[in-house]
Amino acid sequence: MHNIRNFVIIAHVDHGKSTLADRFLDITGTIEKRKMQEQFLDLMPLERERGITIKMQPVRMLWHQYILNLIDTPGHVDFSYEVSRSLSAVEGAILLVDATKGVQAQTLANLRLAKLQNLVIIPAVNKIDLPSARTEAVVKELAELLEIKQEKIFRISAKQGLNVESLLEAVVEKVPPPQDRVDVPLRALIFDSAFDAHLGVVAHVRVKEGEVRQTDKLFLLGSATPAIAKEVGYFIPGREPTPALHTGEIGYIATGVKESERVRIGDTITEAQSSNVKTQSYAQALPGFKIPKPVVFVSFYPETPTDFDILREGFRKLHLQDPSFTFEQEFRDALGRGFRCGFLGVLHSEIIAERLKREFGLELVLSRPSVEYQITDTRGREFLIKSAGDWPDPSQIQQIKEPWARIEVLTPQAAFSGTLQVLESVEGMQKNVRYLGDQTAVLVYEIPLRELIQNLHDRLKSASSGLASLEYETIAMRQADLVKLDVLVAGVKREELSQVVPASKAYQEGKTLVEKLKKLLPKQLFTVPLQAALGGKIIARETIGAKRRDVTAPLYGGDVTRKRKLLDRQKEGKKELAGKARIRIPASVFLEIFRNE
Ligand code: GTP
Repeated sequence: MHNIRNFVIIAHVDHGKSTLADRFLDITGTIEKRKMQEQFLDLMPLERERGITIKMQPVRMLWHQYILNLIDTPGHVDFSYEVSRSLSAVEGAILLVDATKGVQAQTLANLRLAKLQNLVIIPAVNKIDLPSARTEAVVKELAELLEIKQEKIFRISAKQGLNVESLLEAVVEKVPPPQDRVDVPLRALIFDSAFDAHLGVVAHVRVKEGEVRQTDKLFLLGSATPAIAKEVGYFIPGREPTPALHTGEIGYIATGVKESERVRIGDTITEAQSSNVKTQSYAQALPGFKIPKPVVFVSFYPETPTDFDILREGFRKLHLQDPSFTFEQEFRDALGRGFRCGFLGVLHSEIIAERLKREFGLELVLSRPSVEYQITDTRGREFLIKSAGDWPDPSQIQQIKEPWARIEVLTPQAAFSGTLQVLESVEGMQKNVRYLGDQTAVLVYEIPLRELIQNLHDRLKSASSGLASLEYETIAMRQADLVKLDVLVAGVKREELSQVVPASKAYQEGKTLVEKLKKLLPKQLFTVPLQAALGGKIIARETIGAKRRDVTAPLYGGDVTRKRKLLDRQKEGKKELAGKARIRIPASVFLEIFRNE
């Protein structure tokens, strides 16, 4: 075990984790050069295309006499649950910072997580080959953040391989080998899982104590589930079976269990002492993980209603790989059957939508992302609402609460005023401003999560020429002054268009919404009033004119009475139509209405 080193690379998005992992795979000869593609550990096509890592990816490398278990982690805030789980499987972390961008929001957040786990941290400034690199300024900033001497920081180019080998030597030297106990029964921590049609749920584990061999009888503590090690092995980075997984190693155990909810991330796998679950003695569970709660909610509908079953199947399959999102069936008149889903952030929802489109060939209508509201009604009952469609009548509401977030925005001095301007335009309050090095300001605010998910990140990026970065955590539910904005099309209330908005912005939002609808809805044979309403009171109105059909065309000459009669009849007919009309709203209209601009 003394020759094992378990470590992760943590960084802000795009600072070069996957590229550095590529170099390590090169140096250790884990992947032959000819098979090497860039960002090798980004296994999903979507990851390569978008250039982001979504899933953590472990890989085992052999180098001299050492076994190096590396986990490449995602850098985006929505996926910090992945990062925190990877950290529980290792003893050390390379903290990578881009020499052109300096310390960014996720650098701070991930560093905090690594410190909580007491990991040995090896700092490195990357991309020093770039002409725009501010290597020494960034080294200074990082040294200040970590309270260490500047000489302790590596200066590397992951792309060109510069100083990468000495960084790997430092991993061997500084990261301690696992301190786990060998001669005791098995205890392995599940930090991730995958589903395989033949092997069942494959648990990704760190063996904390003892060892596990193929065909061993196992017991999952949390879910009290017996299992058999159908296969055990390492990641190279694909699965490579081996007869046994030893103490201190990172690898996988195929459990044969088909019900994914029985193999929970954070659970402990132990040995079964008895074939009878009832007489199984329980070992002590390893500390698990705090499972994050979804905070962003989006409805998903198939554009073609008959695709509903494919959508359900898609969600089921993706959920086996990513249990951190939720999906519940719902129904809306115009859209048919769909799902209300909860995600860890907006990017998380976009990734799942994109995967449903690609992997299941679905066209989807998505609602605008929203948060969960807590309502206390006049009888003192509390309930949570994830969708405007479920909003109670205003007369029933005593109090509304909504989630707030603490955000940390890092911005270089040059973009300070632009960044500040955006932050000050958002509901919320400034909590702290401080500097890191001479160049980077750290602004801390508390704002409603609702504001955060309305493109705050993009607005900050455009106000700062892409330089500001943001990281957040949800903090508490706080009182809110919100109202439900209803939309009536041809006099009929359409729940699928309802929105929850701040009372102070309701008039503006209502006006914008009906104006947008007017542009988007196809004309009908009769005039269609579009109204925005607050608790029964109309606050904005637009009208779509009727599509004209010339009913008098077949007439020629001057038979005025006949013409009059025909026109009157048409008018009557239209009135009758309009009275009953429940207009079909095409899916494309929802797509446009819900699009975040
Ligand atoms: P996420 O997975 O999205 O968090 O990104 P990442 O941290 O894995 O970064 P990635 O390795 O995908 O690199 C981001 C971009 O920076 C890519 O275009 C790389 O080619 C480039 N890059 C990484 N390291 C270097 C370097 O040392 N020099 C230069 N010039 N470019 C680099």
